[in-house]
Amino acid sequence: MAQVSLRNVVKDFDNTQAVRGISLDIADKEFVVLVGPSGCGKSTTLRMIAGLEEVTDGEIRVDGEVVNDVPPKDRDMAMVFQNYALYPHMSVFENMSFGLRLKHYPKDEIKRRVGEAARILDLTELLDRKPRQLSGGQRQRVAMGRAIVRNPKVFLFDEPLSNLDAKLRVQMRTEIKRVHQKVKTTTVYVTHDQVEAMTLADRVVVMNHGIIEQVGTPQELYHNPRTRFVAGFIGSPAMNFIPCRLEQNGAGLKVRLSDALALPVPEGRTERYRAAAGRDMIFGIRPEHLTEPRGGARDAACEFSAAPDVVEPMGMETMVFFGVNGTEVCARVEPSSVTGPGQSMRLCANVSHMHLIDPDTRLVI
Ligand SMILES: Nc1ncnc2c1ncn2[C@@H]1O[C@H](COP(=O)(O)OP(=O)(O)OP(=O)(O)O)[C@@H](O)[C@H]1O
Ligand SMILES: [Mg+2]
Repeated sequence: MAQVSLRNVVKDFDNTQAVRGISLDIADKEFVVLVGPSGCGKSTTLRMIAGLEEVTDGEIRVDGEVVNDVPPKDRDMAMVFQNYALYPHMSVFENMSFGLRLKHYPKDEIKRRVGEAARILDLTELLDRKPRQLSGGQRQRVAMGRAIVRNPKVFLFDEPLSNLDAKLRVQMRTEIKRVHQKVKTTTVYVTHDQVEAMTLADRVVVMNHGIIEQVGTPQELYHNPRTRFVAGFIGSPAMNFIPCRLEQNGAGLKVRLSDALALPVPEGRTERYRAAAGRDMIFGIRPEHLTEPRGGARDAACEFSAAPDVVEPMGMETMVFFGVNGTEVCARVEPSSVTGPGQSMRLCANVSHMHLIDPDTRLVI
């Protein structure tokens, strides 16, 4: 069990700065996910925590001790990679126990630890098999088992599920969460998949171009993104961003999206947005907050007509796509409320979930 802290950590490669001064405190037993687009510095950050990559500047501490100069083998961390790197000629038992045998653990202790890990991972029946006799998901569990038996202070995962098909990924995701709930080892997990990040993490760290954009619980990031990048990255289908002008509306404010369409700003937001009145802004709203009207006087002001040109049925819900002043917008509606593409329908914006983004700073105000 361990706490991990990063203080202004920088990584320079020859002519790129991969990590540009990030600070992060990871609590004991916490499951933290680093997520962001390709090349944003996730793996580099993880490899610096593991000691596989030297830190150019800043400090990494484990339980308060600076580990910048501690070699990987002495950091007591176990890393699980995308390619599981199992030894093909060894059985599952031998693969899982390899590290312990190298360290000359007593036979009984090895048996006990492998047995326990195999039980947690549901591998007990497979201990005699070779990796080639296993499915992708089973191999993935062996790789995790190899990490668990070492009983490390910290687990580090780098995209451990990206070699699996979509269905198995979802299954293994649940498996990893279950294992963490059992062993409670501090975990840092890297993925570019925001759904994986949201479902696994206690806290999600959204990275972009070598910096941290925002750190928060999945709920915080979903409801209160602080930047346009986070607003667009978290959530699927992605948040709609529509250019708008913030206008006076009696004592309140409204968001003008087109000549024909203006939505009232909820009263509670008036003060927050007041200073931006008269300015061109970006209106952000998630597809799930554009739905069919449920009736009622309060909704009436937020209703509008749209003629979707594309309709995507998903089973329990349907996505419809339509244009607002040249911007494509997605709404998430009840399947029964859609007749077909080209047919006009009534929609309602749930403006209590709106976001307003400053186009210059790209910050959510
Ligand atoms: N050994 C290296 N030498 C030079 N540049 C590197 C090296 N390793 C990584 N980089 C660069 O550092 C940046 C961050 O790379 P990193 O592997 O951390 O990204 P990532 O977020 O893990 O991306 P992905 O999702 O594609 O795995 C990239 O621009 C990459 O090209
Ligand atoms: Mg990577």
